[in-house]
Formats: sequence, structure tokens, C-alpha cells
Amino acid sequence: MERRVSSPRSLQGEVTVPGDKSISHRAVLFNALADGSAHIRNFAPGQDCRSTVACLRNLGVAVEEPRPGVLVVHGVGLPGLAEPPDVLDAGNSGTTIRLLTGVLAAQPFLSVVTGDGSLRSRPMGRIIQPLRLMGAQIWARGGDSLAPLAIHGRPLQGVRHRLPVASAQLKSCLLLAGLFATGETVVEEPVASRDHTERLLRAMGADLSSQGNAVTVRPAKALRPLDIEVPGDISSAAAWLVAGAVHPHARVTIKGVGVNSTRTGIIDILREMGARITLSGQRDVGGEPVADLTVESSALRGHEEIAGALIPRAIDELPLVALAACFATGKTTIRDAQELRVKESDRVAVTAQELRRLGARIEERPDGMVVQGPTPLRGALGESHGDHRLAMLLGVAGALASGETVVSGADDVAVSYPGFWDDLASLSR
Ligand code: S3P
Repeated sequence: MERRVSSPRSLQGEVTVPGDKSISHRAVLFNALADGSAHIRNFAPGQDCRSTVACLRNLGVAVEEPRPGVLVVHGVGLPGLAEPPDVLDAGNSGTTIRLLTGVLAAQPFLSVVTGDGSLRSRPMGRIIQPLRLMGAQIWARGGDSLAPLAIHGRPLQGVRHRLPVASAQLKSCLLLAGLFATGETVVEEPVASRDHTERLLRAMGADLSSQGNAVTVRPAKALRPLDIEVPGDISSAAAWLVAGAVHPHARVTIKGVGVNSTRTGIIDILREMGARITLSGQRDVGGEPVADLTVESSALRGHEEIAGALIPRAIDELPLVALAACFATGKTTIRDAQELRVKESDRVAVTAQELRRLGARIEERPDGMVVQGPTPLRGALGESHGDHRLAMLLGVAGALASGETVVSGADDVAVSYPGFWDDLASLSR
């Protein structure tokens, strides 16, 4: 599907973004393993989290949806999953396949997990190798590096893992395996990634502690079910933060956004570039900090040092940072972001390629990008490359560029933000 976007005279109003995708996956998966039932509210409506629910149903977990956005999960207990009658399909979702594999590695049955073309090209050796050190039996394509994965569950032993990359998916996979293992499992990251797994598992009674960038989990006898209200997804809100900061006539409020400090790199980066973003109504929702975010038209400056610990805190928002940098005065440099190349697409390559079509001056680097600003963007044809975040990036770019932008693959937004185009229309005045 194609969408045609041009810059509105102003961007004004309030939006509520979908429930956080990372938290939604975890809320349904962990509650599936609990002893009893739990309600999840504001569950992410996108296809990715639907894939997690579908896999769990195939593993014998009853998940009801009495109203849109509300799930009732009937946990089967830690030893309660059943051998799936068919191949498990994680769709486009890296979080689904990686977290689920950590659990399946310890179940006394055979499962096969696969996904779409994008997921089948993403690195799985990073979970297979450390799970094998714990005793797991896993087979995979491409010299044991690519899905489909065939997993024959076995008793696991706790191991100390030093991860070569900061990755919440990898960390969570190993912590979940550790719940079923004997002894302690320690997962140490080079820099901290999002900590939703740690927060939720602890709230459900798991014996889990963190010290610096190392997390230790001990085997669990049971998990308590936990009712959760999922905060709004800051990765979806990021589209409006960038659109609002760059558009010359903008004031946008995004209600109820999760502002866990492991996720707020986008706010820090945009503020350091001069964006006027305010937080109000700070509160706690589902064990996570939440706030309403207001952004207003701002004069942006380039940012020379987006690197290091900032990167995992803004990993999914970096393409939008590159877009903002096109409108900032001076040079912006993004480094240490090689992980961006192994997302739903190679987001370094496709961000540079697609924004260049609109006139951006972007240089690709092995581990990031260098953007020269200010460069006025002109509407052009842009391609999503099957990547939801690219489709949204081009939608926002179209709302900021002169002329008309045609976004091909516009319906890819359904993976994380099905209402994206409607929300863009409602903010455009
Ligand atoms: C996610 C972690 C990140 C992120 C992805 C969701 C998660 O991936 O890019 O969209 O839910 O744990 P990595 O942990 O592999 O960097």
C-alpha cells in the first residue's frame, strides 16, 4: 500500500500512542508461565505482539481478549507448557523468537520456531551459543545462526554470560532460561539495555538481582500472576517528538508514555539538540514510570556525540534522530550503533538511502551515520523495505518535507503502530 504525505500547515493536538511493545510481549509471556490468571490492559495492538500471543496459544496457553487492548492470560505455571502441534511463527518479531527460545530450551519437548523473511535473516547464533553453554539442544540453518530453529528442551545449568553486545532480547532470553536452570545464571552486558524483563520478573516473585550491568537470576519454583497496565510506547511517541520539534508550527502532547530511563535516550538526544520537550503528570503505571510529553517547534542544533551508553537507550529511534539531524544546524554523528544493521532491516543502510532520496546529506559509517544539516528535504518516493520503523520515518519525513512524499509499504506500520496514519492525519491542521 502507498500513502501520499505532504507537510501540514501546523501539527497540533493530543495523541495516545499504542501500549509499549517490549512490555506487552513480556507481560503476556511471563504471565503465561505464572500460577493463575492475569489481566493486561493497553496491550500493544501491533502484529508483533499478536505473534507472541499466537505462539503461546500453540503452546497450550489460553489467552482471551474480552475487549480490544485487554488480554486475560491463564498461566499454566513454569512446567505447564505443552508441545506445540505445529511450527511456531514469530512473524517479524525478534523479541518473540529470542525470548521464547530461552523458555523452550528448558521444556521437555520439541519445538520449531520460525518467522518472516526479515526475521529469518537476523542473527540467532547470539542466543544459540550461550544457551548451548547452559546445556540446550538447538539446531538452526546457516551454520546454526538463522531461523527456523529446532529446539529440543533439556535440563539447563546456570552459567555466567558476558554478552558481546548490549541487547535486551539476548539478556532476556538467557534470564528466562535461567529461571529453569540449576544454580545461578548471570548475564553481564557491556552497557545497560532496557530492563523491562528484570522489573516484571521481580514483581512476579522471581529471585533476580542487578549489580551494575550484571543481572543474576536463580531458579524459580513459581511465578505470581501480575495484572499489568502497559504504558504508551516511547518508540512510537518518538515519531511525534521529532515531527513536533522540527515542524515550524507545532505543539503536540503525547499522553501516558513510558519514560523508563533505559528507553528515554530519544528525549535526551533531542533536548541536547535544542528541542523543547516537557514532561508532566509523572506517575507510575505497571511498575514503570509514565509521563505526558509535550513538544513544541524548536530550533535544532547538530549533535556530535550520539554514542556509547546512549545508543541502547535510543536504538529503535536512531533513524528518527537522523531525520531530525537533517533540520539541525551543523553536523550530527551517530557512532557505536552497529546493532542497527541487524534489526528488521539494515537500518543504517536503508535510513541513509531513503532520506537521501529526499535530499538529505547522510554518510553511512560501519557503526552509524554522519548527517549534515540543515538540509531542506523535498518530497520523493520512499520505500519501507518491509520495516515498520522505516515506514513511519518516511511518514514523518513527508510531514516535514516540501512537496509530496509517497510512502511505499505504508501498511508495514501495523507491526507496531496500526493507527499511525490516522494519528498523523488527526495532528495535521
Ligand atoms: C527489544 C530490544 C531491542 C529493540 C527491539 C525490542 C526488546 O533489541 O531493538 O525493538 O523488546 O527487548 P535488542 O535488544 O536486540 O537490541
